[in-house]
Amino acid sequence: MIGRLLRFSLFGESHGRSVGVQIDGVPPGIKIEEKKIMTELERRKGIPELSTKRKETDRPEFLSGVFKGYTTGGPVVAIAKNKDVDSSYYEKIRNIPRPGHSDYSAYMKYFGFNDYRGGGMFSGRLTFGIVVAGYFAREILAKAGIRVKAYAKSIGNIKTERLSLKDVFESNNPYCPDDLAYNQMLELIKKTKDEGDSVGGIVESIALDVPPGLGGFFEDDLEANLSKAFFMIPAVKGVEFGLGFKASELKGSEANDPFAFNKGKVVTKTNNCGGILGGISDGMPIIARVAFKPTSSIFKEQDSVDLQAGKDVKLNLKGRFDPCIVPKAIPVVEAMMSFSLADSYLRWLSWKEFKNLERK
Ligand SMILES: Cc1cc2nc3c(=O)[nH]c(=O)nc-3n(C[C@H](O)[C@H](O)[C@H](O)COP(=O)(O)O)c2cc1C
Repeated sequence: MIGRLLRFSLFGESHGRSVGVQIDGVPPGIKIEEKKIMTELERRKGIPELSTKRKETDRPEFLSGVFKGYTTGGPVVAIAKNKDVDSSYYEKIRNIPRPGHSDYSAYMKYFGFNDYRGGGMFSGRLTFGIVVAGYFAREILAKAGIRVKAYAKSIGNIKTERLSLKDVFESNNPYCPDDLAYNQMLELIKKTKDEGDSVGGIVESIALDVPPGLGGFFEDDLEANLSKAFFMIPAVKGVEFGLGFKASELKGSEANDPFAFNKGKVVTKTNNCGGILGGISDGMPIIARVAFKPTSSIFKEQDSVDLQAGKDVKLNLKGRFDPCIVPKAIPVVEAMMSFSLADSYLRWLSWKEFKNLERK
């Protein structure tokens, strides 16, 4: 479960009957625009020639919380049935954990009762529900004028040039606003795929026009809540805001963001803190970077163990895997950022309304 006022949880398995999401606390009256939801779900399928060959339509079926095209205020439950499933190979390797995947740790955690087919509940397929939850979050944020956009900042050693907020928010490329870097990224993913290997990367996600005051003390800390949201995405290995780890190398005089008035509004002249001070938004763009490891399922021979036979073995994997998770993960990161911000926004809104109430 993620969120406090607006919450969601995921269910399903990669090769089970379906994957799905239950979202609680969605305000009534949000219109279901299937085209918008499908655009994000299509984006989550990644770049066609560089993604797994598994074909799923992933059209959400709403089982609850939606009536006559609008949310009712009840729990929203959406599922997508798994159709293109081939579990035969997973039966063969069920006792041989894939290095880098959840197979071994899940086997230990669930005493071998876990659904091991296609990574079970740890599969990237479960991100269907994150993207659906993200739709409702975005609709809430849109009413507040808050926009969120993520893109591939780097893949392997290919990095984007310095991009302005306008470049990021006005680009039509769903994966990366820097055309030159994008083409190099595609080349790198293709080359890595041909080698039977995989590559990681960094997704940068930016939220614009966030009012100052979202987040708060301790468990309300915006950085903590956003970080948890990002780390819940499989294959995430690092999260940073603003200057992030680089801030540790600077002096206070270099890292602090000086304040100024701009048209009567307090702004900061730089945004090294990434829009968050004391776990609370300061009104500047919120800038987060999320690092993804290379996909663990690769086609090169790897050392593993046979848990049943109790001996070391060589693993030569077969199957359908993504050579790079980053393109598929971009809308997932956007959805998680939107959801966490929408939850904080709704809580902030209740205090704001309360503050403005006159005693009757
Ligand atoms: C959108 C998405 C797609 C993914 N596709 C694959 C895949 O094809 N093969 C794979 O081994 N891992 C894939 N993963 C990552 C695994 O789910 C993840 O590495 C695994 O559950 C282990 O968790 P951890 O990496 O967080 O430790 C994907 C993750 C995401 C977010």
